[in-house]
Amino acid sequence: MKKAIITGVTGQDGSYLAELLIEKGYDVHGIIRRSSVDYRERIAHLEGNPQFHLHYGDLIDSTSLISVIAMVRPDEIYNLAAQSHVQVSFDVPEYTADVVATGVLRVLEAVRMCGLADTCKIYQASTSELYGKVEEVPQSETTPFHPYSPYAVAKQYGFWIVKEYREAYNMFCCSGILFNHESERRGETFVTRKITLAAARIAQGKQEKLYLGNLSSLRDWGYAKDYVECMWLILQNDKPEDFVIATGVQHSVREFCQLAFHEAGIELEFKGEGMDEKGYDKATGKVVIEVSPDFYRPTDVVNLWGDPTKAKTELGWNPAKTSFEELVKIMVQHDMKKVAVERAGEYVACNLEEYLEKGVVK
Ligand code: NAP
Ligand code: GDD
Repeated sequence: MKKAIITGVTGQDGSYLAELLIEKGYDVHGIIRRSSVDYRERIAHLEGNPQFHLHYGDLIDSTSLISVIAMVRPDEIYNLAAQSHVQVSFDVPEYTADVVATGVLRVLEAVRMCGLADTCKIYQASTSELYGKVEEVPQSETTPFHPYSPYAVAKQYGFWIVKEYREAYNMFCCSGILFNHESERRGETFVTRKITLAAARIAQGKQEKLYLGNLSSLRDWGYAKDYVECMWLILQNDKPEDFVIATGVQHSVREFCQLAFHEAGIELEFKGEGMDEKGYDKATGKVVIEVSPDFYRPTDVVNLWGDPTKAKTELGWNPAKTSFEELVKIMVQHDMKKVAVERAGEYVACNLEEYLEKGVVK
């Protein structure tokens, strides 16, 4: 039985990857952080499974990483842990660098210190944010990087330190340069989930309006469940290499809104420009989307579009498994059900939008 460690197992990708590896017969060890609240919702269904184990640890704490790696002696490590919110990285740049940049180095060094450099394969969760202020469209493995946020600069260090350890110590470590991938488990402050939850709440009369930032921003959005398969394939490849993982299809935030609201039963019409642009419910004429400066970033990445040819041809990965339309449908259908059982007042009590409007939470 192969043994794998997943850092960031409580996150969107970590939870899907844990399911996939368990299905493949792995013994899966997830690293979690201590928290005063229950944040294990995404992996609750796996707890109790004899192939699934949890260990406390933190990417900013080498000792914890060394002790878990020494005890498990894994065949594969998937380093998914990160402060992964780009806008938040402008608020906590030093912490973001510690987890997202130095954290990768800590994992690599822990593997070496445990004498596993020759046997343990390492996957690093890299990102399309590396292309940032893009120098080429679409972006592939040969496109130059131009990181454009504290998060992206930290991920750039992670990418290069992985490459360095591969060349210096002949370690099997690789980066997956993943474009945005979403799901019904996506964090609620990333734009897609913020939209699908708001569409569901507005359709059910539980929210008045949705406030967003740059509606013209373009992304190549895929389904997270499909993307974790590729993480695994990258480590099963004959040689350690880096891969772009994307769908090759691009849409704007505005288009995402239109489709999500349509799935929730509301036809949208946008009028106006820039900060004055508004989304109207065609049937009632009510404004349901407004633009707020709170959600603009000091520097924003506005044109991400990936070329997945290498992953398709060399790994046999299918970038078209779940279409953009199917993805939006999955997310909205999930959130319509979730919102329907929200108790009266529950949303108001922890009204994220209100905090967002006040700029407390990005
Ligand atoms: P996510 O939902 O935000 O999950 C992040 C995970 O990292 C959580 O389990 C979190 O634990 C953990 N974490 C954060 N700081 C940590 C620390 N100091 N020590 C240990 N664990 C820590 O992110 P995701 O969407 O699943 O993404 C997974 C990885 O892929 C991240 O590295 C992200 O940067 C990268 N990525 C994501 C995308 C995307 O579109 N989703 C695209 C490209 C790359 P808590 O639950 O305790 O907070
Ligand atoms: N979050 C958010 N909230 N984004 C908004 C909003 C809003 O209200 N309004 C517009 N946007 C725009 C952002 O400015 C950005 O251009 C785009 O929507 C996507 O934002 P996010 O969903 O927050 O994702 P991201 O692209 O910044 O980062 C995600 O994808 C990266 C891969 O490209 C994260 O998952 C990163 O961890 C990941 O590396």
